[in-house]
Amino acid sequence: MNVNAKIILCGEHAVVYNKPAIALPLKGLDIYCEISNSETNTIDCELYKGSLDDCPNDLMNIKEIYYHCLKKLNKINNKHHLKFISKIPIARGLGSSAASSASLIKAIYNFYDIKLETEELFNLCQIAESIAHYNPSGVDARVITTNKALYFSKTLGFKSFDFNLKAGILIIDSGIIGKTKEAVLKLKKLKDANPLKVNKILDQIEMISTKCYKLLKNSDLKAIGHLMNKNHSLLSELDLSNETLDNICKIANDNGAYGAKLTGGGLGGCVIVLCELADLTNLKSLFEKLNYSCYEVRYD
Ligand code: PMV
Repeated sequence: MNVNAKIILCGEHAVVYNKPAIALPLKGLDIYCEISNSETNTIDCELYKGSLDDCPNDLMNIKEIYYHCLKKLNKINNKHHLKFISKIPIARGLGSSAASSASLIKAIYNFYDIKLETEELFNLCQIAESIAHYNPSGVDARVITTNKALYFSKTLGFKSFDFNLKAGILIIDSGIIGKTKEAVLKLKKLKDANPLKVNKILDQIEMISTKCYKLLKNSDLKAIGHLMNKNHSLLSELDLSNETLDNICKIANDNGAYGAKLTGGGLGGCVIVLCELADLTNLKSLFEKLNYSCYEVRYD
């Protein structure tokens, strides 16, 4: 019942406003949920251990989707213990909320030996995402439930594609919590106050995702890196970055990366860096010396 995390290569936030985004699964950075019979409903995860009914607000998506699934499967009188084992850092733009709800939904269906179609998993995951986030575009739930590289649009649907970049992606955790709901609401406020400026930026991000999708086909790393840098600057203009994220991007670019940008909600969370496979280890140790946690992904 493992479910992988994800990164957004380009187009986050704009995707909420019907623009395309490109998202990739992060194989190896995953979460696992195990369920067993119990006297009462209990949960054991990184954030909290105890009664499910008394769980903190940050786990409301898990609690709600748990009861939703049990009702749907006519098992509401049964009680369970939910145990999550996760390698995905929380609130870092790597899709931990969608991955944890997807792993729970899969575990429940598996426990009762009921077949779960990918589309149903997506729909259930979106219910949980609507609680965790404000107005989720569905990109997280889609990439996490399909476990495929996707070109995604809320209105046009999604296309999966083979991702064979012959490159490395280094994920650097800024150590700062980035709450997606806050970030999405922040952008909404800015857009309501200044629609012309924000729409112009969202249009530019749309162009980046469209171009990047084409460039991915022939692994034009230099051009993709350039678009990632541009995407980061535009997210910065939308006030979704901060000094730490900007600085991580600068260090990466000063040390031979093709490009770098924040990924996911922003305001904290992670930066993704595109580099040559041969440079991945050196870049990783550079950032680790600066006390950042890093995850390396090799696409070869
Ligand atoms: O922060 P994450 O990993 O949940 O990614 C959110 C992506 C956004 O585009 C900011 C929101 C959305 O619903 O697509």
